[in-house]
Amino acid sequence: MGMRNNNSTNIIREHCKELILSDAQIADLMNRLLEDIQKGLRKDTHESATVRCFVTYVQDLPNGTEHGKFLALDLGGTNFRVLIITLGEKHFDMKSKIYAIPQNIMIGTGEQLFDHIAECLANFMKEHSLETERLPLGFTFSFPLTQKGLTKGLLEKWTKGFNCSGCVGEDVVQLLKDALARRNDVQIDVCAILNDTTGTLNVMCLATTQFQLPPIGIIGTGSNACYVEKVENAELFDGDKSKPYVIINTEWGAFGDDGRLDFVRTEYDREIDQYSINPGKQLHEKMISGMYMGELARLILVKFTKQGLLFGGNGSDLLYKRGNFFTKYVSEIESDKRGSYMNCRQVLEELGLNHATDQDCSNVRYICECVSRRAAHLVSAGVATLVNKIAQESVTVGIDGSVYRFHPHFHDLIMEKMADLVTPGIKFDIMLSEDGSGRGAALVAAVACRDR
Ligand code: BGC
Repeated sequence: MGMRNNNSTNIIREHCKELILSDAQIADLMNRLLEDIQKGLRKDTHESATVRCFVTYVQDLPNGTEHGKFLALDLGGTNFRVLIITLGEKHFDMKSKIYAIPQNIMIGTGEQLFDHIAECLANFMKEHSLETERLPLGFTFSFPLTQKGLTKGLLEKWTKGFNCSGCVGEDVVQLLKDALARRNDVQIDVCAILNDTTGTLNVMCLATTQFQLPPIGIIGTGSNACYVEKVENAELFDGDKSKPYVIINTEWGAFGDDGRLDFVRTEYDREIDQYSINPGKQLHEKMISGMYMGELARLILVKFTKQGLLFGGNGSDLLYKRGNFFTKYVSEIESDKRGSYMNCRQVLEELGLNHATDQDCSNVRYICECVSRRAAHLVSAGVATLVNKIAQESVTVGIDGSVYRFHPHFHDLIMEKMADLVTPGIKFDIMLSEDGSGRGAALVAAVACRDR
């Protein structure tokens, strides 16, 4: 019995090797990503680039003098939020409410989506007795946008779980304004539309004392990064060129959509993609982010179960159902102390796998570790590429998102890997930057108003 189990463990570990990125593969990945970023930045290659590197028109960062009352919308994670934020000399006040976006709206028409957003916003304003005021609003819209200015952005494509008709190619600020006009019960003034990475960068700027321009990563439902680029390198930027810098939204989640990541993708990645609502798109994101991590683990568990390597070959209907192994399970299982399988057993019981042996639990944990470690290493490669490109003496990278926050080892895994990848001599650190998509939207709107 013991023999057989050990043997399964060995076979499982052997199969999982394809999930371990070698140093050579990571070096190759970093070169490819840097090339693709450069393609995104250049005028002649931007359109055909996979990593689009959109310019954002956010050139001024908060300096702490911003004040006033601002509304913010945050669309793009698992939840939709409306916030009212008051910035003052010594105080900061924020009230917010989370609204569900029902599945049928996420894949319905654009009109339905924006009517829903407008309705939530109007209800929120009424609940806070703001309906008679005309307030400035910052809109965090965390999808790839071609920006035509601070308040105009054309949707390139939907990502994550969204796929609303009639929005691609449209100015989403206008779609919001149209929906508000259809209701005609509240007045707002959209001052900025931004990506969650951009919002996070703005929040980081206030949080760090030393003057620096940190790169930002988001590892949540989706995955992305932004950084500050010299205006002369951002060939598509046609805004104020007297200011030296502009924030670039890399949209690195689309890295590999031309096949350049195929050398590290596995059959599990191909299956995730095939059953997603956007096949062929966001292939890098699908190897990393919270929307897919649990499902990746599930596909591996299913395969090994069917081969008789796990659970004595007996799975369960729940295990065999797509989407049923949540990303939070990966975090929970990896939170068990070494040698304890408390969380692991609880997860397996929820899935109807009460017959799991200790050896099964140990293998389940190993599979989860392979999936999350690979994700963390892909993030490290990406962040290190940006850190090396920026080439400042010292840099603190801000990261946010549910995976980074809730996975027990993600931060340490990234730090450890980056130590190998960052150019010697550059000092780096990684810091959690909280609620950039909420607070950041208000800050960007406030800076826009400050300078008006
Ligand atoms: C979107 C990005 C966003 C990221 C994190 C991706 O799917 O394309 O715009 O920043 O998710 O929310």
